[in-house]
Amino acid sequence: MNDRAIIVTGAARGIGLATTKLLLSEGISVAMVDNDGEELSKASESLQNILAIHCDVSEPAQVKSMVGQAETYFKRIDGLVNNAGVADFGPIENTGFDTWRRVMATNLDGVFLCSQAVIPALKLTKGSIVNIASISGLRASTLRTAYGTSKAAVIQLTKQQAAELGEFGIRANCVAPGPVRTKLAMAVHSQEIIDAYHDAIPLNRYGSEHEIAEAIVFLCSDKASYITGQVLAADGGFDSTGVGLPALRD
Ligand SMILES: NC(=O)c1ccc[n+]([C@@H]2O[C@H](COP(=O)([O-])OP(=O)(O)OC[C@H]3O[C@@H](n4cnc5c(N)ncnc54)[C@H](O)[C@@H]3O)[C@@H](O)[C@H]2O)c1
Repeated sequence: MNDRAIIVTGAARGIGLATTKLLLSEGISVAMVDNDGEELSKASESLQNILAIHCDVSEPAQVKSMVGQAETYFKRIDGLVNNAGVADFGPIENTGFDTWRRVMATNLDGVFLCSQAVIPALKLTKGSIVNIASISGLRASTLRTAYGTSKAAVIQLTKQQAAELGEFGIRANCVAPGPVRTKLAMAVHSQEIIDAYHDAIPLNRYGSEHEIAEAIVFLCSDKASYITGQVLAADGGFDSTGVGLPALRD
């Protein structure tokens, strides 16, 4: 068993699984948390130094039990990566309240609940929280009323956490990924959206799960020991750019 342990939510696939593997490669144990039991078993069966925990991050009782299981197993918690997320794109007028609530429940309530539940353990280790937002939380775009608003709220929640938890030596930061070809993104990115992203991104491509994981693991690590309350856009330059890229490319 390794000395340090970090909880990663939404760890069964995509960015969460890439983050899990990168943490493991750096000698850090991982509590892999996901509400998709089947994917979680598949993803975790060949990995060492992990504890797979089936948990819906939007359910307070399940979150409390999940953090208890991780603490009992690893004896300490050094970090929390709030990565579990869902996406649903649609026009404002067609965004039903059930959709709005479903997106907020995982993307925002989940971050609030997991962070709150892990604070006592993080006080003991002076650990850190990394929340996964999105470029959709930094800049508004079409069809993202629920998703973009949930991610903008995660950015503000990160700053609240940094402000309050700094005195306990706990850091809180946020990664805002650009587009990555995961199951979540491919379910909502039409060909038009894919083309629009290529046009709007200086690096002219989607990112990889591993590239996002590198930013997350950096913010979890002691290399980021004086960084808190920040939002790191791992986005190929999307957030820094205005109009003109397609004209330049022509
Ligand atoms: N892929 C992208 O383009 C992109 C861009 C910006 C931000 N993000 C964010 O990155 C994070 C990871 O997304 P991804 O692209 O890897 O998606 P993904 O769908 O591949 O993985 C998300 C994981 O979260 C799990 N999950 C969903 N709801 C959950 C819940 N209530 N409780 C526990 N687990 C739950 C899913 O089962 C899944 O394993 C999300 O927060 C997403 O919003 C992704």
